[in-house]
Amino acid sequence: MIEARGLSKRYGDLVALHDVSFSVQPGEVVGFLGPNGAGKTTTMRILTGFLPPTDGVAAIDGHDIFSDPLAARRAIGYLPESPPLYPEMSVEGYLAYVAKLKDVPRSARSKAVDSALDRCGLGDVRRRVIGALSKGYRQRVGLAQAIVHDPPVMILDEPTVGLDPIQIREIRSLIGSLAGEGSARTVILSTHILPEVEAICRRVIIMNRGRKVVDAPLDELRQTGSLEEVFARATTREIVTEEVAS
Ligand SMILES: Nc1ncnc2c1ncn2[C@@H]1O[C@H](COP(=O)(O)OP(=O)(O)OP(=O)(O)O)[C@@H](O)[C@H]1O
Ligand SMILES: [Mg+2]
Repeated sequence: MIEARGLSKRYGDLVALHDVSFSVQPGEVVGFLGPNGAGKTTTMRILTGFLPPTDGVAAIDGHDIFSDPLAARRAIGYLPESPPLYPEMSVEGYLAYVAKLKDVPRSARSKAVDSALDRCGLGDVRRRVIGALSKGYRQRVGLAQAIVHDPPVMILDEPTVGLDPIQIREIRSLIGSLAGEGSARTVILSTHILPEVEAICRRVIIMNRGRKVVDAPLDELRQTGSLEEVFARATTREIVTEEVAS
């Protein structure tokens, strides 16, 4: 469903990503972890077609991100690190606009908007202007715009950042329900909250200094220690991949 092959990104002398490859199967929910600056957002921006890699290829649902960008993007719901919300638009007006951009047929649009409002707990604020919402509600709008066209692939960059504990729990359960057992939806979500990964994800990818240093089922990782210990081990060594390979 998601294929990344040999992705690299350089900014001048800085290597933000180095030869990152992974594939994610339909229905998989992957936690994307790593310290600040590890390359999580960079990877997600490449996968969603917002940033060209220096090297490598990526495909979503069989569509190459660069040769077939429209089809690839249509298959994705993306919650960026800072969602491009339009502060002067109403919540429902904005979601209808996104649905149109995402090619939801006119006849299906209002149902798609209602369903996204409902799933993100936005029914009570649907006519409010986005700029007047609290941060948590704006984050919900960000999530609603990522799911309004019911995409098979969701790429969520720190979906619960800055939310209060109750909202974190609600958004977490929303993501859990979108990607629950038996769902064919594929999800990659980045976070710094390890219990979040333990609550939602079955597989974990850990990035460090632009490299993929861990890619394994959560159950398997837990056999060698807590996720926190695994994270600390993987991100305090210089280059783990080379050590494992040799
Ligand atoms: N436009 C840019 N120009 C130069 N360097 C950049 C640019 N965007 C990102 N970087 C660098 O690329 C590296 C990876 O950044 P990235 O945003 O992918 O990290 P991240 O894992 O998402 O971190 P965080 O947890 O802080 O969100 C960092 O060193 C960052 O400074
Ligand atoms: Mg980031």
